[in-house]
Amino acid sequence: MLLLRDFAQVASPAGRRAPLRGAELGAVDVVEDAYVLVDAGTIADVGRMRDLKPLGAAVEERSFAGRCAVPGLVDCHTHPAFGGDRVEEFSLRAGGASYEELHAAGGGILSTVRATRAAGEDGLRDAVRRHAAWMRSHGTTTFEGKSGYGLDRDTELASLRAVRDAGGVPTWLGAHAVPPELDGDADAYLDVALAEVLPEAAKLAEAADVFLERGAFDAAQARRYLTACRDAGLSLRLHGDQFTEQGAIPLAIELGARSVDHLEATGDAGVRALAGSDVVGVLLPASALFLGRPMPPGRALVDAGAAIALATDFNPGSSFTESLPLVCSLAATQLKLSPAESLAAVTVNAAHVLQRSDRIGRIAPGYRADLAILDAPDWRYLAYHLGERPVALPASELA
Ligand code: NIG
Ligand code: FE
Repeated sequence: MLLLRDFAQVASPAGRRAPLRGAELGAVDVVEDAYVLVDAGTIADVGRMRDLKPLGAAVEERSFAGRCAVPGLVDCHTHPAFGGDRVEEFSLRAGGASYEELHAAGGGILSTVRATRAAGEDGLRDAVRRHAAWMRSHGTTTFEGKSGYGLDRDTELASLRAVRDAGGVPTWLGAHAVPPELDGDADAYLDVALAEVLPEAAKLAEAADVFLERGAFDAAQARRYLTACRDAGLSLRLHGDQFTEQGAIPLAIELGARSVDHLEATGDAGVRALAGSDVVGVLLPASALFLGRPMPPGRALVDAGAAIALATDFNPGSSFTESLPLVCSLAATQLKLSPAESLAAVTVNAAHVLQRSDRIGRIAPGYRADLAILDAPDWRYLAYHLGERPVALPASELA
């Protein structure tokens, strides 16, 4: 047993349910002058220091005076398996070139595909390890990681293994772009991907993802890809409504997808449809910021009753940040979500997207003892302090 004591505050999304939506999304239990008792990596008890019962000499103690604890952060949408970088493209965009133009000209995602294929399995493994360490240094204790920059059998499978071996939750983004050798023929690419990659990818990944967008895959192709992936046992995710509405929300609802992610272009009808469904809207405001695009309608989605999560979208092209606290700050200043709503969106609701909300995302008895420690007197510094860097304290370190 381990006693983590003297916290200024311990803050956790209230209740036991997931996903949280509506008024429940903003309900946070805050315990002042608090302790967390950990038994073999699992939270045994949370309470006020003055109510702490004598525990005996065998219990190890650590003091966190002046600091706050929130649940270890959960990043449910990242692309960490890539070679090279896009600093050249970033510089061009800073001078006025658009992301979509660069993509159409064979730069963008396809330039990362070339670098990722060249990296080799060891190079990819090193890259994902390095990126996972960056995430951890910002308080993330669980991350999802997509493939999608290989687009051939060996590199896609190597990407999924690299994510798994770095402790991440692998998602097969087999339909991210049409690789150069298929010359823009998305259907021919899906023939190969579904026949040759899916059977192996389904053994490594937990979910499948598709980029449904003009210039990537259309709704019919997305339906075909996702249906085959569902039949192979994968849960479903979509990149949708990033630049234009192409039917991602109706398709996600029809197929029972876990989430639809981005939503910068979602209009009122999409907001209403999502709110009436079990599909989680994953908002990626750092990507909108990085590309200088409109923000997703976060406040409207929450007010309509949609289940939302927040994630970094960490990738080299459209969101080169691993910081969920930065995302919470953007959620407050740009999406008009309260720090309490953001906390649920980067903990229990993100855990729900990853089908782990029974184990992670809360500081409550029975949950895994993954914590993020803020050097702050109030847990809301998570969103308030632009550039906050909580210390990740995963259960694996609390032996
Ligand atoms: O989620 N939108 C598609 N895919 C990524 C960006 C990929 C890239 O630019 O390399 C995203 O933003
Ligand atoms: Fe993404």
